[in-house]
Amino acid sequence: MESENRKVILSGIQPSGILTIGHLAGALKNWVDLQTQFQSYYMIADLHSITARQVPAELRQRTMETAALFLAAGIDPDKSVLFIQSHVPQHSQLAWVLNTFTGFGELGRMTQFKDKSERHPENINAGLFTYPVLMASDILLYQADLVPVGEDQKQHLELTRNLAQRFNFNYSDTFKIPEPYIPKIGSRIMSLQNPNVKMSKSDENVNSCIFLNDTNEVIINKIKRSVTDSDAEVRFDEENKSGISNLMTLYHLATGVSFEDIEKLFVGKGYGDFKLAVGNVVADWILPVREKFNEIMKDKNRLKEVLEYGAIQAQKVAYKTLDKVYKKVGFVRF
Ligand code: TRP
Repeated sequence: MESENRKVILSGIQPSGILTIGHLAGALKNWVDLQTQFQSYYMIADLHSITARQVPAELRQRTMETAALFLAAGIDPDKSVLFIQSHVPQHSQLAWVLNTFTGFGELGRMTQFKDKSERHPENINAGLFTYPVLMASDILLYQADLVPVGEDQKQHLELTRNLAQRFNFNYSDTFKIPEPYIPKIGSRIMSLQNPNVKMSKSDENVNSCIFLNDTNEVIINKIKRSVTDSDAEVRFDEENKSGISNLMTLYHLATGVSFEDIEKLFVGKGYGDFKLAVGNVVADWILPVREKFNEIMKDKNRLKEVLEYGAIQAQKVAYKTLDKVYKKVGFVRF
């Protein structure tokens, strides 16, 4: 764990809803593979989640559930540092400093900020505006080399790189410049009801989304009812056949079978057969994760121990970077 020369990765998920198969496919599955090669930091981004109003008891519950799902998906606390963002005060502390290096206009150009403010005009708070600076702090505190993220976070990562370079240039080398790591397959699982938009845990239509705690029956039904095109050919073509391509992606992630072989398997078969097959393999794929999750949630004390241990490890590393930053900007350090 302590090997200094391993490259570092960091990523996080907000505990703002029940996790979906998109998280398992696009994030967790890769994180599990990456943790053997990299010094990995995986965090539950609770500070980020309060940029939208949360019900406190629900946020607490979701935070623990998200942690349990990380573990259920295979994140190993002996290999990775797994922690809750608010347990490491250095995130907010660095964010304050980096705020003073960030332009108002720079933040105003963030597409996620623009989208979220349009969707929630009743709560355009300053935290929502500076959200990307907190994210930059998450990443830079750990001197991450690589940041596995979805396509939608690319712009935030670009800002992170700019801030790091700006700070390094103003003082001296302080931060590693991180690279995004966007998985080729699975980084965008689309909504089952509108395959032209990303599957989202906050979608109002629950049928658009497969939650990791959906039962086999529910999963099979949601896939059966998913929106596809009107011809009858199982072929990967994201532009013209986004629904079928999305289902093929799920099939591939669940089984490892290539797109080409999936096409061959379903030559001459209708969408009904294909959807049923996808439903079955996806249900089989999620079942062990769900069972493990339920088991972990039964032992809250053990989960708490894991998270406390993670927070201590994270704090040590985060403190080192913050201390450097505080010195460089001219704060008195005794
Ligand atoms: N903003 C990310 C999202 O909503 C979550 C996140 C917070 C994150 N901090 C991060 C991702 C740091 C990667 C690195 O998906």
